[in-house]
Amino acid sequence: MIAVPLFSIPPIISLLPLRTMDKLSSIAKFKASCPFLGRTKTSTLRTLCTSTSPRYPSLSRLTEKATECPVMGPALQLRSGQMAAGYASLAGTAEFNKIPEHKGVLASPSAASAEKCPHASKALAAARMAEDLANLKNEKSAKAASAPSTSKAPATAAGCPFHAATAKETKRKSTPGGFDYEQFYTTELEKKHQDASYRYFNNINRMANKFPIAHTGNVKDEVEVWCANDYLGMGNNPIVLETMQYVGLARASMLFFTHAIGRSRTLNTYGHGAGGTRNIAGNTGMHLALEEELAQLHRKDAALVFSSCYVANDATLTTLGSKLPGCVYFSDTMNHASMIQGMRHSGAKRVIFKHNDLQDLEAKLAQYPKETPKIICFESVYSMCGSIGPIAEICDLAEQYGALTFLDEVHAVGLYGPHGAGVAEHLDYELQKRAGQSPEPIKGSVMDRIDIITGTLGKAYGAVGGYIAGSMDFVDTIRSYAAGFIFTTSLPPINMAGARASISYQRLFNGDRQLKQLNVRDLKGRFEALDIPVVPGPSHIVPVLVGDAALARLASDTLLAKHNVYVQAINYPTVARGEERLRFTVTPGHNMEQIARLAQAVDQTFTELGMKRTSEWRAEGGRASVGMPDAQPVEPIWTDEQLGLLDGTAPRTLKAGQERVVDARAVRITREKFNNLLGPGEEGVDMDVGVAQVVEAVAPGLTLPTPPLEASIPTAVSA
Ligand SMILES: Cc1ncc(COP(=O)(O)O)c(C=O)c1O
Repeated sequence: MIAVPLFSIPPIISLLPLRTMDKLSSIAKFKASCPFLGRTKTSTLRTLCTSTSPRYPSLSRLTEKATECPVMGPALQLRSGQMAAGYASLAGTAEFNKIPEHKGVLASPSAASAEKCPHASKALAAARMAEDLANLKNEKSAKAASAPSTSKAPATAAGCPFHAATAKETKRKSTPGGFDYEQFYTTELEKKHQDASYRYFNNINRMANKFPIAHTGNVKDEVEVWCANDYLGMGNNPIVLETMQYVGLARASMLFFTHAIGRSRTLNTYGHGAGGTRNIAGNTGMHLALEEELAQLHRKDAALVFSSCYVANDATLTTLGSKLPGCVYFSDTMNHASMIQGMRHSGAKRVIFKHNDLQDLEAKLAQYPKETPKIICFESVYSMCGSIGPIAEICDLAEQYGALTFLDEVHAVGLYGPHGAGVAEHLDYELQKRAGQSPEPIKGSVMDRIDIITGTLGKAYGAVGGYIAGSMDFVDTIRSYAAGFIFTTSLPPINMAGARASISYQRLFNGDRQLKQLNVRDLKGRFEALDIPVVPGPSHIVPVLVGDAALARLASDTLLAKHNVYVQAINYPTVARGEERLRFTVTPGHNMEQIARLAQAVDQTFTELGMKRTSEWRAEGGRASVGMPDAQPVEPIWTDEQLGLLDGTAPRTLKAGQERVVDARAVRITREKFNNLLGPGEEGVDMDVGVAQVVEAVAPGLTLPTPPLEASIPTAVSA
C-alpha cells in the first residue's frame, strides 16, 4: 500500500510567525508533498501570505486557505488551542476555531479526509490513484503503508506527489540495455507539470433528471454545472430520450399500456452497437436519415456523419489537402486542433492568417496564382474567446481568389439561425426564417456561399458524432477516400436517432436558442456590473479572464469546494499563457436564481483570491481583449428583435422550481419522422406529463433497460 505523503506535512501554522521570505522558503520545501503548494506559483503564495483574509481579518489568506485542507485544518485547530502566546496572538482562538466548523473540515486527520482536499482529489483522479486511496482507506494500518499496491499500476509523474510516491514501487523493470519506457513517460509528464499544462479531470456526472446538476465522484455530492457544451440541455430533452429508448413517453393512462409496449423505439428495435463500418454491416437507416436531416438543415446536397467532428475535420482536410494538386490551406490562427491536424496530415502547404483579419488573409491569398487550389479554413464561433468569424467577407475573398471555404460551425450549430443551422444561417435571419423547413438552398445567402460546413452532434445537440455538409460530389469524394470515415465502426443507431431527434426538434423550435441568449445576456450583465473581467464577444461564450494557470485552477477548485459551482479552468495550450480563464456556459435550463447565485459566488471568489478585475486589467493596459484602451462596445449577434424582446414574444426566463418548456408541435413532428423505421408515434398526446408518471403508467412490473427518470419532464407548450 502506498503512503500518501500529504499526511506528513508539518503544519504551515508553525511557519506563520516568520517573515514572509522565510515563510515562503519554508513552504517551498513542502511543494513536493502538498498538491496545493506544488501547483501554486510562488508569487501567488506570496500574495496569500501577505494579505489578510477578508472574512477573518486576524488571519492571512494562506492560513484561511490552510483551514480548508483536510490535513492542515484539524492540525491548525489543534495547534491554535495549544499555542496561547504564539499563533493565538495572531488569531483570536475563538474566531479561528469557527473556520473549520464553518467549512466542514473533519475533526481529525485521516486517510479518508484526503478525498476532501480539492487539490489532492483532482491529482488523484488524473493519476488514477483513487483506487489506491480507497484501499488505503480500507486498510488503514502500518502494514498497509508498507505493503506493495495491489491495484493496477498508476501512471507516474515526478511532478505529482502521488505519482512520485508510487513510481518507485510500480515501475515496470526495463530490459537491461533496453529503452526505459517508464522513464520516458515520467519525463514527458514531468514537462506537463513543469509548464502547468498537466490536465486534471473532475469526476462530473450530469444527471438527466436534475439538469443542470451533476454529482461528483460521491453520488451525494451535487454541484451545478456551468461549463458543459450541452449548450441547450438537449442531452436530456424528452423527445430525444423517447426516440432513443422510451416507450410512449407521454402516455399517462393505463388505457394505452399494451399499445405503447408494442412500439418500443430505437434501442429496443436496433440494440446497441452498429455492428461494423459503414461499408460492412454498419450503414443503417438511422445513419442515412440523420445525414438527410443534416443536409436539409444546412440546405446542402448531402452530409456525412463521422464518429466526432474532430475526426470529420481531420479526415476531410487530410483527404482534400492530399488529393487536390498543389493545394494551399489558409488557416485562421485560432483554429481548432482538429483542423490543424487535418491540414498537417494532408502534407499540403499551410498559410496562417491573423485571427479574423481580412487584410492579412487577402494579402496572403494574393501571393498565389488564381488557378492554385486553395482552401480557407475558419470557424464561426471561436469557443475559447467567443469571437465570431467574418463569414460573408471571407466568402467574398474566396470568390475573388478562387478558394474553397471550409467553415467549422461546431460551437454554433443548434444555437444560431432561426433553425439552428449556425452563424452562416443567422446572418440571413429573416430570409432563412421565411424559407422554413425547405431543404432548397437560398441562392446568394451566406450559408449557400459556404462550400463545406462541419459541425458536431456532441455540443448543442447533446449527442455524439460529427459531420460535414456540402455538394453531392464533395461528400461522395470524402465518403470514398477518407480513411477516418471508412476504417472505423460507425456510431450506434441509437445515437444517430437521438441526434436526429435533437436536430429536428431544434429546427422546429426557436425558444431554447432565444432563452439561452437571454440568460447569457443576464450573466454577462451581472459579471460586468461586478467588474468581473468578461472577455467581450458577440456570442454565447462567457470567458472570464484570470491570467494565471495556477490561479485559474485555484479559482475553479474554490468555486467547486465552497460554492458547488463546477467551471473548468482553461489553461495553456488551449489558450495562450497569461490568458488563462474560466469559461462559463449558461443554458436555457439554468434559472434566474442559479445565475444570480453564480455571479455572487464568482464575485466572492475573486475577492478571496485577490484576482484581477476589469478595472485592474484596464489600469495595466488590458489583456486578452479585457480592459483594452481602444475597446469598442461589442453587440451580441442575436438582436433584441430576434430574441422577441421588441414584440413581446421572448421566452420567459425560469424561476427556481420551474420546469423547462418543451414545444409540443416540435415533439409531434419529430416523433412522426421516425414512424417509417420505428412504427407510428403517439399521436395527440398530452405532453404535460411527468416521465415518472408515464413510466409507472405504461410499465408496472416492467423492467426498462435503464432506470426511469424520476423528476417530471418539462411542461410542453405549442409554438
Ligand atoms: C472548433 C471545434 N471544432 C471541432 C471540435 C471537435 O468536435 P467533437 O467534439 O465533435 O469531436 C471541437 C471540439 O471541442 C471544436 O471546439
